[in-house]
Amino acid sequence: MKALVIYDSLYGNTEKIAKAIGGAITGEVKVLPVGQANPAELKSLDLLIVGSPTQGGRATKAMQAFLDIIPDTSLKGINVAAFDTRYTSKFAVIFGYAAGRIAGNLKAKGGTLVAPPEGFFVTGNKGPLKEGELERAAGWARGIAESKK
Ligand SMILES: Cc1cc2nc3c(=O)[nH]c(=O)nc-3n(C[C@H](O)[C@H](O)[C@H](O)COP(=O)(O)O)c2cc1C
Repeated sequence: MKALVIYDSLYGNTEKIAKAIGGAITGEVKVLPVGQANPAELKSLDLLIVGSPTQGGRATKAMQAFLDIIPDTSLKGINVAAFDTRYTSKFAVIFGYAAGRIAGNLKAKGGTLVAPPEGFFVTGNKGPLKEGELERAAGWARGIAESKK
C-alpha cells in the first residue's frame, strides 16, 4: 500500500500521533509535515491521511491553506481519512473539531472517506497526549489499512 500521512503540529503532539499512524501501516508510507507536502504528490496514492491540531474548532491556518490548494477532483479514487488532536473538555465540542472539517474537504476534492474522522486527546494546550493515545492512533490506522488491503 502506498500511503501518505500529512500533519501540522504546533507543540509536537499531532506529530507524534501522525508518526504512530504512519508506523502502523505496512507498505510504502511517508509521514510529512504540511509545509513539505506537495499537492502534486497525492495522485498516485492508495491512502491519504491528514491530521491537524484543533485550534478554535478548526484545522491550523497552514493546514486549511494546504487543503484549499488541492485541485478539485484530484483525490478521485484515493481512500482518505482525517484526524485531529483536541482537548478532553466537554466544552470544546461547542466549537467543533478539525477532523470533521478536514474530512469534508478531502471528500469535496473527490476522496473516498474510509473511516469516521477521529480525535486524539491532549491533556493541555501543549500536551502531553492522554495516556494510551499513541497506541489508539496506531490501532485506528491498522484498522483502516487492513480494511483496504
Ligand atoms: C490557539 C489555540 C486554540 C485551540 N482551540 C481548541 C479548540 O477549539 N478545541 C480543542 O479541542 N482544542 C483546542 N486547542 C488545543 C489544541 O488542540 C492542542 O494545543 C493541540 O492538540 C496540541 O497539538 P500540537 O502539539 O500538535 O500543536 C487549541 C490550542 C490553541 C493553541
